[in-house]
Amino acid sequence: MTAYRDVWRRSLEDPEGFWLEAAGAINWTTAPRHALVPRGDEWSWFPDGTLNMSFNCLDRHVESGHGDHIALRYHSAMNGTKEDYTYAELRERVAHFAGALRSSGVTTGDRVLLYLPMTPEAVIAMLACARLGAIHSVVFGGFAATELAVRITDARPSVVVTASGGMEPGRVVEYLPLVRKALEAAEGIVSTVVVCDREGIPGSADEMAGTVPGVAWLDWDRLVATAEPAPPVPVASSAPLYILYTSGTTGSPKGVVRDTGGYAVALSWAMRNVYDIGAGDTMFTASDVGWVVGHSFIVYGPLLAGATTVLFEGKPVGTPDAGEFWRVVHDYRVKAMFAAPTALRAIRRVDPELRQLSKGAVASLETLFLAGERLDPETWRWANDGLRVRIVDHWWQTETGWPICAIPVGVEALQPKPGSTAVPMPGYDIRILGTGGDDLTGTGPRGSSPEGNIVLRTPLPPGALTGVWGSAERYRHSYLTAFPGYYSTGDAGYIDEDGYVFVMGRTDDVINVAGHRLSTGSLEEVLTMHPAVAECAVIGIYDEIKGQRAAGFVTLKAHVAISQERLQRELVSLVREHVGPIAAFRDVTILDRLPKTRTGKILRKTMRQIADGETYKVPATIEDPTVLDGLIVALKASPRRASEPSAMLSGPSAG
Ligand code: COA
Ligand code: AMP
Repeated sequence: MTAYRDVWRRSLEDPEGFWLEAAGAINWTTAPRHALVPRGDEWSWFPDGTLNMSFNCLDRHVESGHGDHIALRYHSAMNGTKEDYTYAELRERVAHFAGALRSSGVTTGDRVLLYLPMTPEAVIAMLACARLGAIHSVVFGGFAATELAVRITDARPSVVVTASGGMEPGRVVEYLPLVRKALEAAEGIVSTVVVCDREGIPGSADEMAGTVPGVAWLDWDRLVATAEPAPPVPVASSAPLYILYTSGTTGSPKGVVRDTGGYAVALSWAMRNVYDIGAGDTMFTASDVGWVVGHSFIVYGPLLAGATTVLFEGKPVGTPDAGEFWRVVHDYRVKAMFAAPTALRAIRRVDPELRQLSKGAVASLETLFLAGERLDPETWRWANDGLRVRIVDHWWQTETGWPICAIPVGVEALQPKPGSTAVPMPGYDIRILGTGGDDLTGTGPRGSSPEGNIVLRTPLPPGALTGVWGSAERYRHSYLTAFPGYYSTGDAGYIDEDGYVFVMGRTDDVINVAGHRLSTGSLEEVLTMHPAVAECAVIGIYDEIKGQRAAGFVTLKAHVAISQERLQRELVSLVREHVGPIAAFRDVTILDRLPKTRTGKILRKTMRQIADGETYKVPATIEDPTVLDGLIVALKASPRRASEPSAMLSGPSAG
């Protein structure tokens, strides 16, 4: 562990020297003289530096003679399209689209909301915003109009860039009616919508003209045809590159703000040292540009490194089969792949013997990186034995932008431990705190740390969030005040005697469905919109493929008569309409009463333990223990339950 330990220790002991050195991988317009500058109990990275992200991702590679290297390989398993873009071609497309945005009034610091499927236009639009110093906010295509409207209202973009639609297995998703609905809900904010017309999907800018007062609908191709290419605009290192909304504990999502310079430096470091990817290498990240993984390791990371990135539109299974990932790896000679454990579990379910993996198909693959949710040791072993490549489970969050823990294979290929997300990355000083804030780090046998809240000593390294859009208070309240001096990750876990970190689950009401982070609060808000629902609780229960799934428990208003089937149908469609299909919400259980403490707090943890068949203790603070019997009976009657509800009640606990 010597090489790794030396690097990590130096990053904590000499952050200034370590990160200024790492900053050498970036082309700055004005080179920073300082790395870390404290601002009260907050901080800033490279504040005196200026740069342009699009220049660093494209122009500098072209200018250094690599314009003919392939930057982007678009592979659609949905409609069979395959397109390659060299660095020179991508720069050309980005510069023209940046010019088009500029002609629509977009300038440095403006927000542009992107609601796009997994096509090259998504990458082009992101980089075009970055070229102008405008701030993009990408919204995942699986979110409904209400979620889109919430983000428009918060980020206040003047321009929305969208497409006629996306493709899901067996159906097309028409975006324009959703965009229109969102604009009607978030009235008077957006002045222009640019529409990329996708073949085979109904809807176009012309058809939308005049549908929303004050909004001009422009066709992408026509706009670009008359646009002059725009040069990169240098911005301050601290200038926001993007806002990415993520679920918190409340119904309203948090706009995570990412700076430009710190992010560029952190990603460059991670590409070389964590992913071991440089110019000439190919990385395949099977995520979506709507998530942080897509931002960092489909778009910015690989392009900063001068590597080739694969933009994959499709699913791990069914498009057309469970062999598609391996074909992509083979055909594009992928060196590093990144996916969510859910994707592996989905493949394993249909192809447990890996029959779709032909001999030598993944010979180019050196490492499969997994993140987004807990990687269960069984799936780890299946992938490890079946693929015979290095498997790296690594842990990070939308907020951190790059891994908190990983095996830095470019520094030292440490031995993985199934169930662990390995060791802290540079700048991450991980501590385990008890509920009262007591430091448990190193208090276990042989210097291990018992399970508790995982926190990160501030300052956080470059690349991590610099705020929550529009609310300094929310930023502090969400992350910095629970444990002063630390960033609270919201995850619980422990550290073993070798310093390996085990992330076991969330400490808040955030759930993780197929690697997608969802707020139970936002789902509950939707369930209570139904006129029959008096009270509700949404919890994340075990799901064999998706890790967790959202399950709703509702009580009905007095004198309401509605069948379970009808209520379920209506609640499912309400969630689909307001949150989107991605919530994959299907489980509804009607209860007479919800289990609560005497102060009215719903006992979600106990509910989850019962639903998942775990042993549990009846909390001493429970208002009426017999309510749990009702829950057990209802769960036993539920046709969708995965686990046998646990009926083992032991004595009251203080928990
Ligand atoms: N636009 C519109 N709808 C979308 C969408 C998008 N971009 N992405 C997903 N959806 C829809 C799906 O079509 C599905 O709709 P349905 O209820 O009508 O079938 C619903 O949202 C749920 O989707 P999903 O969670 O993807 O479930 P699935 O059953 O379609 O697929 C998996 C299961 C395992 C294949 C899929 O969850 C998967 O690929 N997971 C990996 C996720 C991942 O890579 N996460 C990375 C985050 S870092
Ligand atoms: P997101 O912000 O959507 O990337 O979700 C971040 C959350 O996903 C983390 O706070 C964890 O709860 C969970 N997570 C991500 N990666 C891992 C991992 N490798 N192991 C366990 N949980 C993870």
